[in-house]
Amino acid sequence: MTQAPLLRQITDYANRADPYPLYAELRKTPVFQEEDGGPFVISTYWDIQSLLHDPRISSDAANLTARGDGELTEQEEETALPPSFLRLDPPEHDRLRRMTNRPFGPPHSPRRVHDMRGELAGIVSDLIAGFGDTDRIDVVDQFSYPFPVTVICRLLGVPREDEPRFHSWADTIAAGLDPVPGDDPTERNRVTHEARMQLGMYLAGLVEERRKTPGDDMLSELVTSHGPDGPMTTMEVLSTAALLLIAGHETTVNLITNGMLTLLRHPEALQRLRDDPRLAVNIVEELLRYEPPVQLVPQRTCIADIEVRGVTIPKGSSIWLVLAAGNRDPERFEDPERFDPDRKDIQHLGFGSGIHSCFGAPLARLEAQLALTELARRLDNPRLVEDPPPYRQNAVLRGPRHLNITFDGLR
Ligand code: HEM
Repeated sequence: MTQAPLLRQITDYANRADPYPLYAELRKTPVFQEEDGGPFVISTYWDIQSLLHDPRISSDAANLTARGDGELTEQEEETALPPSFLRLDPPEHDRLRRMTNRPFGPPHSPRRVHDMRGELAGIVSDLIAGFGDTDRIDVVDQFSYPFPVTVICRLLGVPREDEPRFHSWADTIAAGLDPVPGDDPTERNRVTHEARMQLGMYLAGLVEERRKTPGDDMLSELVTSHGPDGPMTTMEVLSTAALLLIAGHETTVNLITNGMLTLLRHPEALQRLRDDPRLAVNIVEELLRYEPPVQLVPQRTCIADIEVRGVTIPKGSSIWLVLAAGNRDPERFEDPERFDPDRKDIQHLGFGSGIHSCFGAPLARLEAQLALTELARRLDNPRLVEDPPPYRQNAVLRGPRHLNITFDGLR
């Protein structure tokens, strides 16, 4: 039997539960191009790291002249779609990122994130209380999924009574990124487009209100700020708010779910976390290396010829940076296939690197640390119902669709 091409195997749903042997195969050819005109796929740690810092690599889709999709579906291509600074190059990228950063606080002491710790802990407790007195839950539907959307609502200052509407738009947009095979793509696009429109209109109304009566929330600060760059225009605020929602939702869901799955597969680590919540910091970093929610960055373009390991990648080529393969590169990490919460050297690529490195990293870290610590503490003797669990279709934002677990009650 002939083997399917490697990129097709990587995006094939059948390999979603464990793509790591395929990534090991990929690393044997660090600059990999399966067919003429297809993307150049980079899978080794140091090469990914250096390209993420290379100004000859553009994030602006307008620069793409070659075919960049490889084997990705439209949804996987679009996962990073929000039309804000994620898909822009300097100087526009830097201006918008700087303006968004201001209400978030200085880069190394994210004031707003730190201030939210108590509020985040309250949301986690409420979600766990919502399990009721059952002995079986789906971690995704009942916990990891609603948590980050609620957090973004509070961050932006969405009034509590509007949160359910916001959740429903976010759900529809996220589902649009993860199509069920066999469903009607035209209908799905219509529904997703409708949800985006409604979310946009809702946010536009909120922006107008905050302009008139500012509150103590991020949206108010963005529209009233008098920093050197001035306030954002309404369109800039809308696209930034949508970026925060989309970039910060599915990713955080997957970090928490992958985290719970990994801990249930490593019960000694789960027990240690239960005994000592301080271990959460290291566990979350190791998870971002071992099971990164963003497996690859598919939307970069060379704006000049670039030589990597003796191979010339021509100007106009599309590049995929497989963060998850770099994270398990034996040239960078000792015993990389092992989940090791005591690992000392964990400079992972889970949040990317360089000018586009994850803007929400401090928030994502805090959310995952609080979530996993509380689940470990409160669930008595949790066990997986099925291993591996069913995964989402998406190969870029990879994570379980459901994570059913049983336990002996809440502590
Ligand atoms: C960028 C991962 C959570 C906002 C990125 C990138 C990665 C990433 C890999 C780089 C993309 C690229 O280079 O093209 C993650 C993971 C998360 C997470 C694994 C959760 C575990 C969040 C949250 C927010 C957020 C909670 C917002 C509240 C952003 C934004 C960018 C970004 C705005 C674009 C930064 C730029 O272009 O300058 N994220 N992210 N992310 N992330 Fe996250």
